[in-house]
Amino acid sequence: MDISGVEQRLKEAGQSHLLHLWLELGPEEQAQLLQDLGSLDFQEINRFFRCAMESSSGGEKEKLDSRMEPVPREALGSVTRDRERLETWKGIGLRHISQNKVAVLLLAGGQGTRLGVPYPKGMYDVGLPSRKSLFQLQAERILRLEQLAEQTHQTKCCIPWYIMTSARTMAATREFLSRHNFFGLRKENVILFQQGMLPAMDYSGKIILEAKGKISMAPDGNGGLYRALGTQGIVGDMEQRGIECVHVYGVDNILVKVADPSFIGFCIEKGADCGAKVVEKTDPAEPVGVLCKVDGRYQVVEYSEITSETAEKRGPDTHLVFNAGNITNHFFTLSFLKDVVNLHEPRLRHHVARKKIPFVNAKGQLIKPDSPNGIKMEKFIFDIFQFAKTFVVYEVVRDDEFSALKNADSQNGKDSPTTARQALMALHQRWVLNAGGHFISKTGTQLPAVHSSNGAADQPIICEISPLVSYGGEGLERMVNGKKFCSPLVIDEAGVHQPALGE
Ligand code: UTP
Repeated sequence: MDISGVEQRLKEAGQSHLLHLWLELGPEEQAQLLQDLGSLDFQEINRFFRCAMESSSGGEKEKLDSRMEPVPREALGSVTRDRERLETWKGIGLRHISQNKVAVLLLAGGQGTRLGVPYPKGMYDVGLPSRKSLFQLQAERILRLEQLAEQTHQTKCCIPWYIMTSARTMAATREFLSRHNFFGLRKENVILFQQGMLPAMDYSGKIILEAKGKISMAPDGNGGLYRALGTQGIVGDMEQRGIECVHVYGVDNILVKVADPSFIGFCIEKGADCGAKVVEKTDPAEPVGVLCKVDGRYQVVEYSEITSETAEKRGPDTHLVFNAGNITNHFFTLSFLKDVVNLHEPRLRHHVARKKIPFVNAKGQLIKPDSPNGIKMEKFIFDIFQFAKTFVVYEVVRDDEFSALKNADSQNGKDSPTTARQALMALHQRWVLNAGGHFISKTGTQLPAVHSSNGAADQPIICEISPLVSYGGEGLERMVNGKKFCSPLVIDEAGVHQPALGE
């Protein structure tokens, strides 16, 4: 890479300041910076900046209230209200899985800033008895689901696991999975790829340096998926494998039912090209976007985009009118994804996130600002819902399917390792109860069932069931029916583990 060529490109793009501290860099830093600069398309970045700022400017934005309508019943499936359809949907999903038509795609390129660990979130161990990481739980659920589909249809099958990483998470994710032998999955069926990164910019469109020779870069949002699907050859790989539909989910939901056959079957039965799993939003102020229609098209609307009056509006059944809480859990047909990659995504603008971005000033000093001083540009996974021809929404029970790991335990409670761990163990406890088992205290009295994962009991029962034994609570009767258990109870491939009496 030639410095004068880079200088010229920077000048044309109004970004010459990136070389102002060039002479203060050592040879290695210079080489690295030159390489980083060489990989960026400044004209494109400037265009992204202009478009993103244009859509975000204009002061207080018009609220969306008058243009919104809730998800209509005909587009909605519900595990509680459509109980009698569940087995049929599950059957359709399992058949597709057994025919190798279903892939799962994990979004794991985020920085996990709130959790604050220096490694990818999927490697996090929330403190279960097994000490399994989020990645391991997900991989084992895939394995078990393959087994279920194979047993039902008497044929070998495979659910490929696509993992979107970013420059921040790729190397550590790859090393972790490979060190653990892909948790029993075949290496060739675990496909890692990388989303794009974009520089942070100040409000005038100048790219920010986070060190004298280092550009401040961040992943381009989970909607960066669509560009990466094209540039990284993932759509082609899916086509080659004969994939017809894809289940996309975020890394941090410890309860995620990867490739949930009932959800997939529901979407297929409805002829949907795009679907979203939701949980009921009960607190209007909860920071979860709601799925609804805006001007007749599906969209996720954030609390800040509507008035509190609309957010708090309740129907005759006392439920919130806009209650379809989005949980980053989606269904797409491959043909829809292809249209998104080729036609729609390039036309979408980035969202602007105003942030406090550490920077080096013209004198080379590192400044950590107290208030937002620049922007990061991101696309969101749900930006493309508007292009769906048939969009469906599938409502599930929060305690059974959603508990996100966002914050550290030190940050006061919500969406933390502790709530995630307790949510999973409370679910597994309910599985044991449903299969006819009971929990007793050390003195032999029967313990009451825990109904809510997040309303943690004083002394939660410790109960963990390996995904290799049960994907969704099935197959436990022969091990637990009519039996009494003390906490901790662990059930894995080796059997049922209990503390010895008197322990
Ligand atoms: P979040 O928006 O919660 O971000 O991501 P995060 O990185 O996990 O955490 P914070 O906000 O920095 O604390 C929701 C899902 O989208 C993925 C995340 O990995 C997570 O699965 N994601 C987010 C990406 O894959 N790429 C991104 O650029 C951003």
